[in-house]
Parts: sequence; C-alpha cells; structure tokens
Amino acid sequence: MQRSRVTRIVAGFTLVAALAACGGSTEKTGGAAPKAGEDVEGSLVGVTMPTRSSERWIADGDNVKAALEKLGYEVSLEYAEDKIPTQVEQIENQIAQGARVLIVAAIDGTALTTQLEQAQEQGIKVISYDRLIRDTEAVDYYASFDNYKVGVQQATSLLQGLGLVEADGTTRTDEKGPFNIELFAGSPDDNNATFFFNGAMDTLKPYLDDKTLVVKSGETDFKTVATLQWKPETAQARMENVITKAYKGARLDGVLSPYDGMSIGILSALTGYGTSDNPWPIVTGQDAEVASVKSIIAGEQYATIYKDTRQLADVAVKMADAVMKGEEPEVNNTTDYDNGKKVVPSQLLESVIVNKDNYKETLVDSGYYAESDLS
Ligand code: BGC
Repeated sequence: MQRSRVTRIVAGFTLVAALAACGGSTEKTGGAAPKAGEDVEGSLVGVTMPTRSSERWIADGDNVKAALEKLGYEVSLEYAEDKIPTQVEQIENQIAQGARVLIVAAIDGTALTTQLEQAQEQGIKVISYDRLIRDTEAVDYYASFDNYKVGVQQATSLLQGLGLVEADGTTRTDEKGPFNIELFAGSPDDNNATFFFNGAMDTLKPYLDDKTLVVKSGETDFKTVATLQWKPETAQARMENVITKAYKGARLDGVLSPYDGMSIGILSALTGYGTSDNPWPIVTGQDAEVASVKSIIAGEQYATIYKDTRQLADVAVKMADAVMKGEEPEVNNTTDYDNGKKVVPSQLLESVIVNKDNYKETLVDSGYYAESDLS
C-alpha cells in the first residue's frame, strides 16, 4: 500500500518534470533564448515592479506593458507591494510561464540572485529597470537615469531654495547662512539610494565644511539617515524625533529628501512648525508625483526631480525588443554601474529639477501631466 503510493508520487513528479522540460524547449512562447531570425512575436516578457504605493511605478508598469504589447509581445506585469518573497515568487512564475526576457525593478537589489541565475541558465535575458540588480552576473542590461546626477540635482535644489546658488546653479557671492539642514536618504537595499546620497553629499560638502550648512542632529552618515523601503511614515517619525532632539530654540531651514513620498511625510512632521511669514523649511524630493507637485504649487515642498518615466519605459522596451531579436541594445555607459560581479552596460537618462517656476514647462507642456491633474 505504502509502496505503491510512493511509486505513484514519484511517477507524478517525473511526469511534471518531463512536462516542465517540454515547456522549456524552443517553442515561441516556451521560454529560453530566441534563435537568430526566429519569429518572436507573441513571446512572453515578464515585468516586475516593486509597489503600487507610489504613482511612478504604476506609470512605469503601464508604459512598459503598453509599449511591449504594441510590438506584439505578451506581457506578465506584476507588483509585489514591497514584499521581497512575493517578488521572488513572481519572477519564478514568469520563468515557469516561459518568459524570454525579464524586466525587473527590484525591491532589494541583492535578493534575486538565485532566480536570475536560473533564468540565465535557460538563456532568458534580464534587464534591470531603474534600480540596479546587484551581486550577480545574471543581469544583461540596465535602464535608468543618471542616479548620481539626480543626487546632485537634489542638493542643488536645496541650495537654490536657501539662496546659496542661483537658479542656473552658479554660486552666489553675497554671504549667507549659516543654515540648519537635515538629511534623509532612501532605502539601503536599493542601489540608487547610495548614488543619490553620494551625489547630494558631494555637492553639499563645501557648504558643510565651511559651516554655511549645519546638521544640528549630527546625523550625517548614510546608514543613520537611510529610510528602509522609502517609507513616508518612517521619514515622518525620524523628522519628528530630530525636531524634538535638536531644534529647541533653533530654526530648521532645509531638508534633503530623496523621494516625494518621504517629503510628504517630512512635511507632515513639520506642520505648524514654522511662522506665518516663514512656514516651511526648503524640502526637496524626487519623481514629480502629483501630490508633491501640488504641494510645490502651494508653496510647501520646494522642489522635486522629474524623471520622465515614459522615456525610461521606452529605453527598457527597446532593450527587450533588441535582445529578443538577438541584437545589441543601445547603451551610453559601460563604466559606472558595477553590481559587485560585473559592470552592467547601461542606458542612462537625464533628469530635471522642477520647482514652482518651471513646473508648467517641464510637466504640463511635455504632456506628462494635464494642468487639470495638478489643480
Ligand atoms: C527610484 C526613485 C524612487 C525611489 C522610491 C528609486 O529606486 O529611482 O525614482 O523615488 O526608488 O520609489
């Protein structure tokens, strides 16, 4: 009795394994690398995004999916709501479903090694989307923005808001300050967060060195100011603590915030903080999300960094299409994005500082938002 049950189970496994092996063959939608000249229409592309809690990722996912479908590909688009095991499972499923290209915006850039190596063994190509996948050879291309420069722009917008540099980025010669600022960084498991922070800190360094800028909390190293998974409520709680700890009888003039969602948390912590003629510190951001652009128009958040997600989707889709067809995608950087195992060939886009003065020309005239979205 016992024995025949075991035999049946083993036979069942063998059958499943055999079917899985068939699925991994060279059929059009059956996974594995396309052959040169093969008709790839209808092939599956797996797209994984971190979360729907931020508008930008919703736009990224929608744009990537629509453009791939227009080219005739099947698309599996998944969101993992910032849960690493969920994202791992989604990628495993896409591999099992026969995806031939994976476009991955990782939650934790180091957590996908096993799945992506399994994909690579089957000849599936992997495109790292916006965030660099780390610690594995199993990533073929990287589509992103110039992340260091985003950090430089965040710091520049802070300096502009404080009146230390002109709108064109040139240093003002009249003496100003000192100003009290506080620093926030993004999620330590996201490779971008370090790039943003390094770009910002290199830009702020001369002002910190000569004490034009002072961080009264003393919290300046990445680990201390990092914000796991970019959570607005974590940023809000830290801002509240810092105010209580370091700003009795002192004015906070500016906050380096790396992401609009966090900026909203930070501004919530500062509600009622300022005076009627000087209500808000200069608070920076990133992503030009609707709520933050509205906040900028209302004079609360000072600036954000606009990264046109339509352009990013376009780059990633062109990469996917090229690798599907066995061609080399276009890249413009082959030196800066070392993921710990290899330098990943990258196509990097440019970002723009947006404030009250230029939001119309950058966001509305470009068709990114309708004026009515922002009112
Ligand atoms: C992206 C930013 C975004 C942040 C939080 C980063 O990896 O590059 O655009 O603000 O994640 O979602």
